[in-house]
Amino acid sequence: MGKEIRSVVNILDLSVDEINHLMELADAIEADPGKFQECCAHRKLAVLFYEPSTRTRLSFEAAMLELGGQVLGFAGADSSSAAKGESVADTIRVVSNYADIIVMRHPKEGAPVVAVQNASVPFINAGDGGHFHPTQTLADLLTIRRTRGRLEGLTLGLCGDLKFGRTVHSLIDAMLRYPGNRYVLISPEELRLPFYELEKLEKSGVLYQEVNSLEEAIPDLDILYMTRVQKERFFNEEDYLRLKDSYILTPEKLLKSREDLAILHPLPRVNEISVQVDKDPRAKYFYQTLCGKQMRMALILFLLGLDKG
Ligand code: NCD
Repeated sequence: MGKEIRSVVNILDLSVDEINHLMELADAIEADPGKFQECCAHRKLAVLFYEPSTRTRLSFEAAMLELGGQVLGFAGADSSSAAKGESVADTIRVVSNYADIIVMRHPKEGAPVVAVQNASVPFINAGDGGHFHPTQTLADLLTIRRTRGRLEGLTLGLCGDLKFGRTVHSLIDAMLRYPGNRYVLISPEELRLPFYELEKLEKSGVLYQEVNSLEEAIPDLDILYMTRVQKERFFNEEDYLRLKDSYILTPEKLLKSREDLAILHPLPRVNEISVQVDKDPRAKYFYQTLCGKQMRMALILFLLGLDKG
């Protein structure tokens, strides 16, 4: 029997202990990046992006380069054989011969499951449709831990497109494993959290509420996780136009917030956070992108079995 290949499709593919280990590794990287700069020498990361991305793709590439490794891949299905009709299964089988580890973003929910079945190297899901986005969650967890000092006993406000926002789904799955967290779900009726996620909150017996008003929710929150209305997942443009500016965070709305609130956003931002908020010390969304790169470095090391040295 060969060594077990570890992959991450869902944040639950990593145990709480493993996530803690990744956060410690990210802290060690932050403290002394030079120590890690050759760890992935002669290793290759394949980056297969069938959907647009800035942060996730570039932070994975930067992560591998900063570990001394190399990257190959494509950004956009049009420039790959997907445009000729090649299946994900075939592409992954082929790319397994070219790279030591694969990261993929795909518009279809479930595509990563097919990928894992066909990969002979570790595989990472970088977002599948409106489903999951586990590595964004790793970035979010590290940001929360570094800015609030803990991952439990927090009141978390999740605001915006809770229906299609895959980052929200993965973050809830992750935070449910830490005790004492409360959830305030702030969305228009049409963009409520999907049933399969609501059910998880319900079954775990945590405190949660669904509300419409961001202003009313703000004073109680330790974390405010803003999200973009996911235009590309709407069936009709009219609905998107009607809902896109449902929430806009402004300095005025923050007047009643706690001083130690941490404002997160997976980015890209469209309109939902006014640029005037950027200079507020509570705004952590650009810092979150740095945390994302460090967690991706940690994850690559872990999946390649290079985290022990
Ligand atoms: C998110 C995504 O792709 O789901 N972006 C990201 O990876 N940082 C959020 C979004 O696109 O709104």
